[in-house]
Amino acid sequence: MKTILITGATQGLGRATAQALAEQGHALIVHGRDAAKLADVARDLRRTGATITTEVANLSDPAEVAAMARRVGQSRARIDVLINNAGVFKTARTEAGGRDVRFAVNTLASALLAARLAPEMPRDGRILHLSSAAQAPVDLQALNGARKLTDMEAYAQSKLAITLWNQRFGDAHPDGPVSLAVNPGSLLATRMVREGFGTSGNDLNIGVDILTRAALSPDFAQATGRYYDNDARRLAPRYDDATATQVAAKIDALLTQF
Ligand SMILES: NC(=O)c1ccc[n+]([C@@H]2O[C@H](COP(=O)([O-])OP(=O)(O)OC[C@H]3O[C@@H](n4cnc5c(N)ncnc54)[C@H](OP(=O)(O)O)[C@@H]3O)[C@@H](O)[C@H]2O)c1
Repeated sequence: MKTILITGATQGLGRATAQALAEQGHALIVHGRDAAKLADVARDLRRTGATITTEVANLSDPAEVAAMARRVGQSRARIDVLINNAGVFKTARTEAGGRDVRFAVNTLASALLAARLAPEMPRDGRILHLSSAAQAPVDLQALNGARKLTDMEAYAQSKLAITLWNQRFGDAHPDGPVSLAVNPGSLLATRMVREGFGTSGNDLNIGVDILTRAALSPDFAQATGRYYDNDARRLAPRYDDATATQVAAKIDALLTQF
């Protein structure tokens, strides 16, 4: 039995993965930004008999992310697995704290939670970052908030940014916890896909299955720093080290503000 923190557990892939993990008997800390919606989810998950606690934070605000990391670090049982699932593609409000909300939620919040919680985690613990097949070279000016991007540019850049940060994190923490970036599979049936792409989407269980395996299976114990592409069903080749170092350094510099 593991203790697993999963962000964005109020719907979609996070909600379905939380259900699968609770049914396996793991203790979950489920995160959401809407307290009432999260309470409903927690009540449903408790029907499995699993121990369920909740964390509320708007991940577009790094101060809230940092406060959540402090609460989790100080007052909970040790986290074995962190699943940075919460993510945003299309949204009415694209700005958050002076930068694109996709960078704030998909990149900075994930990196901040991982950086703050990793020291408290066991060496064989796992950190998963939700990546995507949608990846585009990261514009450091845009990451800084100095240039505006389209929805797809922002989403794809934010996903490559966390994937590159993860590669550097893995290099810097060879003794664990094991940290992976995961594309759960493209166009899975969630709100993000319905609203962003206008299609009902593919079987969500494709994503649930890879996230539960990446979180728990020994198959991934040696894969720290890598990106698992569930469309191709394999670990992708490493990214260019110089680019990963440059992007990760920029993200780390931003994190020091919080
Ligand atoms: N579906 C796919 O085909 C696919 C493919 C590749 C990668 N992904 C990734 O998988 C992850 C889950 O996506 P999904 O498809 O399940 O999307 P979804 O149904 O839209 O769910 C997104 C989750 O993230 C939460 N969230 C969004 N913005 C937040 C914020 N500012 N603060 C806190 N929580 C926030 C949402 O909370 P609310 O319930 O409050 O809105 C929701 O729980 C994302 O990282 C996405 O990029 C999905």
